[in-house]
Amino acid sequence: MLVTGRILREESFKNLRDFVYEQSGIFIPDTKKYLVEKRLAGRLQVNHLQDFDQYMELLHGRRYEEEIGPLLDAITTNETYFFREPEHFTIFSGHIVPELVRRNGMKTAINIWSSACSTGEEPYTLAITLKEKWLGLKFNILGSDISNSTIESARKGLYNSYSIRNVPEQYISRYFSFKQDACGYELSPCIKELVRFMNINLVNGRRAGFPMGLDVIFCRNVLIYFDIKSKRRAVSNMYDSLKPGGYLIIGKSEGLHDITRAFKPVIIDNTIIYQRTM
Ligand SMILES: C[S@@+](CC[C@H](N)C(=O)[O-])C[C@H]1O[C@@H](n2cnc3c(N)ncnc32)[C@H](O)[C@@H]1O
Repeated sequence: MLVTGRILREESFKNLRDFVYEQSGIFIPDTKKYLVEKRLAGRLQVNHLQDFDQYMELLHGRRYEEEIGPLLDAITTNETYFFREPEHFTIFSGHIVPELVRRNGMKTAINIWSSACSTGEEPYTLAITLKEKWLGLKFNILGSDISNSTIESARKGLYNSYSIRNVPEQYISRYFSFKQDACGYELSPCIKELVRFMNINLVNGRRAGFPMGLDVIFCRNVLIYFDIKSKRRAVSNMYDSLKPGGYLIIGKSEGLHDITRAFKPVIIDNTIIYQRTM
């Protein structure tokens, strides 16, 4: 294999970037060319290819179905951990859930979607929070992501110490058990069974398979990877999935400014969350 083949030429980079954008809405700036090169080198190796042009040919050919998953797995940034941006979980259980219970009573299930959930820490944090703070409340939690490998990992529910570093000590002893052979912490089945997972592409224009009638959507730390057009498409998809009056929670470094006016910003404890207008 030619070592020079692994160097991503400018034109090949632009072709790959366009392809990734069409498939996922993720926009890769020029400054991230090195990252594409690094992340996709393994795909060249696995497929016994000499260079990125051959890889593009493969993606445009009959092996598209087989390769699109691994490509997205390699290109997406999946950083996450339990109780990330903890204010959101405090607001969720201290403000949003009480409001929904006042509106609908304890007997109506609350429907929650963690829409770019990576390896599952976010929806499982929601499950732990509800189990701890809202005993007896009915709820459904869906976790989804565009990356198949993260969903597989979420279903397994095995985590390293980095992932659980923000979990309060009493929850670690209650919901995790250390597995020597796997060198990781296994999440208890009593939490795992509270979340179901599926693959959903947030920028999909067809909306096939999107959940509907939701009360709360967590969509954190993914809009940052999109350009304005993809952000608008993703947010509009989530708007359609929410019930009127439902809440959208995005990452603390993200905003809906310039994207939509269909949501009302609500400030709670110095944190902005968004409510779908009634
Ligand atoms: C940085 S992680 C955020 C995980 C979690 N929400 C958090 O805040 O900790 C971003 C996730 O968005 C996913 N993603 C990227 N593009 C997506 C798309 N078009 N549809 C759904 N998920 C996408 C990635 O696969 C990745 O797992």
